[in-house]
Amino acid sequence: MAQHINLQLGWPSPSLFPASQLLNSASEVLQSPKKTSAALIYGPDAGHQPLRQAIASWLTSIYLPKESISFERICISNGASANLENILAKFTEPGYTKRIWMIEPSYFLACPIFTDAGFEGRLRGVPEDEEGLDVEFLRSNLQRVDAEEQQETPKLKTGARYGHLYKHIIYAVPTFANPSGKTMSLRRRCELVKLAREFDALVVTDDVYDVLRWSEKEDAGPCDLEPVPPRIVDLDRTLDGGPQHEWGNAVSNGSFSKIIAPGVRTGWAEATPAFTLALSQVGATRSGGCPSHLAATLVYEMIATGSLENHIVNNLIPTYRSRYYAMFRAIKEHLIPLGFRVSTGKPYEASPTSNGETNGHSKKVEVAGGYFTYITTPEDLPISVAELAALALEKYDLKFAYGSMMTVEGDEESAERASRGFGNGIRLCWAWHIEEEIREGIQRLATLTIGLRAN
Ligand SMILES: Cc1ncc(COP(=O)(O)O)c(C=O)c1O
Repeated sequence: MAQHINLQLGWPSPSLFPASQLLNSASEVLQSPKKTSAALIYGPDAGHQPLRQAIASWLTSIYLPKESISFERICISNGASANLENILAKFTEPGYTKRIWMIEPSYFLACPIFTDAGFEGRLRGVPEDEEGLDVEFLRSNLQRVDAEEQQETPKLKTGARYGHLYKHIIYAVPTFANPSGKTMSLRRRCELVKLAREFDALVVTDDVYDVLRWSEKEDAGPCDLEPVPPRIVDLDRTLDGGPQHEWGNAVSNGSFSKIIAPGVRTGWAEATPAFTLALSQVGATRSGGCPSHLAATLVYEMIATGSLENHIVNNLIPTYRSRYYAMFRAIKEHLIPLGFRVSTGKPYEASPTSNGETNGHSKKVEVAGGYFTYITTPEDLPISVAELAALALEKYDLKFAYGSMMTVEGDEESAERASRGFGNGIRLCWAWHIEEEIREGIQRLATLTIGLRAN
């Protein structure tokens, strides 16, 4: 039994790394002079073309869009985090781009990426609701900011290198969100696309957990699930006749970190062909070639041989599913009686959109997945959640992420909303520990809470 239990860490446990599959891929590449010379030279700006093609086919099989996804929509990245920085470098200018809107509770590690890109003081939270985000809040704030700040031309990024700079960025994790675990409804996804078009905003989504999914009900066992919800980028491709201009208003940030291993530092972006081409021309890539090129050639072998799919279906999903059920059983047994509550929002339900698109989603589905869940603490907890976290670490060697960490950096209103709502939450991750340790971690939290009440 682990002494230290870390339910904060959003990392896959090392026992889940597909080392032998990567070794086979490396042998395949490095024992072939032809593949070796392609893998060890500077990579093409948009990335290893076989991988772009393989990702395009794989995404087509997952999201089932009406028209298959072409490889020109895909470029290879060195992960979702680094790619976010590239997106900002190529498509924003602080000042001309007025605000970064982040759904809160937010993926807090994205905040410094925006700050490094020059957006300090321009990050704003958008409250999450049961369906994913408060669209009316976002609309009225976009209107207000546009009325107050009217810099209509870029000052610095004026050359031909910058085909389009957006006036706003909206950042979201629509499926199995980090940290809330919520999945945005189809209705909200469509509303977001429309809003982005209206306000010249780019919706950047980290779609990094979508394929890690299983039935919410333990007794359902492995079963056929409804198709994965369409990404915002899928909807921007089709909604109301498709993108309003060649750049579109959405980009999907994909990653192999959660489905192979974070150390492979390989991901992809999907957007319109013009957008991905421009993204692949970011200065560092023009000089150094596609990032993560060697790793990208290994990832390609894993997809081409079917070993990635096999790993996801036969290793990752069964393991995460069991850990998820273990966590939820322990929460029900130990925390719910103490007044903790689980809140993962309204179950994803597809309903026809204004143009009748459902992408095959018509039935109510109760799906769980990803890495995280968010629980709220009992109302009568005698101390703050930050103090609870500090005590848990000090007395029980238990670590977890808590609500006030998830505020949007520099946004006082977000901090204020946290103090009234999501700040009382705890994010728990089931990806790092085995079932027994997860149960033990939840029990330690319950014991601590009981002790506090007794004092
Ligand atoms: C929402 C979200 N985006 C991005 C990342 C990091 O992705 P990558 O490893 O591809 O940089 C994570 C990892 O925790 C995440 O949860």
